[in-house]
Amino acid sequence: MATMNFGGVNETVVTRNEFPLEKAREVLKNETIAVIGYGVQGPGQSLNLRDNGFNVIVGQRKGGKTWDKAVADGWVPGESLFEIEEACQRASIIQYLLSDAAQIEVWPRIKPLLTPGKALYFSHGFGVTYKERTGIIPPADVDVILVAPKGSGTSLRRMFVEGRGLNSSFAIFQDATGRAWERCVALGIGVGSGYLFETTFKKEVYSDLTGERGTLMGAIQGLLLAQYEVLRENGHSPSEAFNETVEELTQSLMPLFAENGMDWMYANCSTTAQRGALDWMTPFHDATKPVFQKLYAEVAAGNEAQRSIDSNSQADYREKLEKELKALRESEMWQTGAVVRKLRPENN
Ligand SMILES: NC(=O)c1ccc[n+]([C@@H]2O[C@H](COP(=O)([O-])OP(=O)(O)OC[C@H]3O[C@@H](n4cnc5c(N)ncnc54)[C@H](OP(=O)(O)O)[C@@H]3O)[C@@H](O)[C@H]2O)c1
Repeated sequence: MATMNFGGVNETVVTRNEFPLEKAREVLKNETIAVIGYGVQGPGQSLNLRDNGFNVIVGQRKGGKTWDKAVADGWVPGESLFEIEEACQRASIIQYLLSDAAQIEVWPRIKPLLTPGKALYFSHGFGVTYKERTGIIPPADVDVILVAPKGSGTSLRRMFVEGRGLNSSFAIFQDATGRAWERCVALGIGVGSGYLFETTFKKEVYSDLTGERGTLMGAIQGLLLAQYEVLRENGHSPSEAFNETVEELTQSLMPLFAENGMDWMYANCSTTAQRGALDWMTPFHDATKPVFQKLYAEVAAGNEAQRSIDSNSQADYREKLEKELKALRESEMWQTGAVVRKLRPENN
């Protein structure tokens, strides 16, 4: 563990310097890791673990496209690819990476396979934190641990292949063996994390639900659309509105403040832009903070979790989702986006 100062606040983090891959391999040398589910996180985590030299198998229900995808990725049926229950039986560490709704449905079949001394691993605090709603209550004699990569499983894999790493949080919910910490951190390093920061299951789920509903996904669409609409209502063309709202942000400015911070980006734009950005950042902050406060309260009350469980467990969930996504895709702003993407020189 290393102590780092984050803007005046000390936090302990784990990096590959203190916990190198060789140490992770040593900690897990007698373990069989079963990655259950081959959706988004499943492929990223299992392939990274495999390429890092761990003993890993995949558990996936048979008969669908996902099983075929696992086979295409080199997992061999009967050797390294099994039905969910068989993989759980064979494993000492079970990485429960089904969708959060499927975790609830499949749990009664998993629970009896969690024999003493095994570790149950999550990448989201959802199932355990909202246990009254999900029914996911692990037996007392297994380790219950979490590594939550802060990004998509696709990015986790992509960045690993590029020799980079996605930051992850980690948490121990239950230490039955006395080895929960080292198992957890070794898995965090093994799946290809950048640095690891410690959290709790509850804090992970509260921050994650807030983040994805907020600036990462929900708020960003709301904010972009509001500006796009105002420009359009004032007679600006779709091209102009989209470029001033989305394209410049994603293509030009975001990479700059990702690399060097916001002050650097402000310092390296026109003086006109600088003055305006500095003056307007506070009204935008003040207008949106109450919405973030309301969002956090809804998450903490469990209402957001309940809404997700209710909606994601409906049989026609995917159909309804596709309808909503179609509406987004066919909105003028994103139709314009599709044309703008086509016009990028690299796509011509
Ligand atoms: N998405 C991300 O990048 C991300 C990021 C950080 C954390 N997480 C967390 O990681 C975990 C996995 O998320 P994910 O997005 O990777 O999941 P996902 O893609 O939605 O998971 C799909 C997997 O669940 C299986 N599944 C669905 N319904 C099932 C059922 N009724 N019975 C058996 N299997 C079923 C699917 O098999 P079929 O294809 O056969 O249906 C597939 O293997 C979650 O806890 C999530 O919160 C995800």
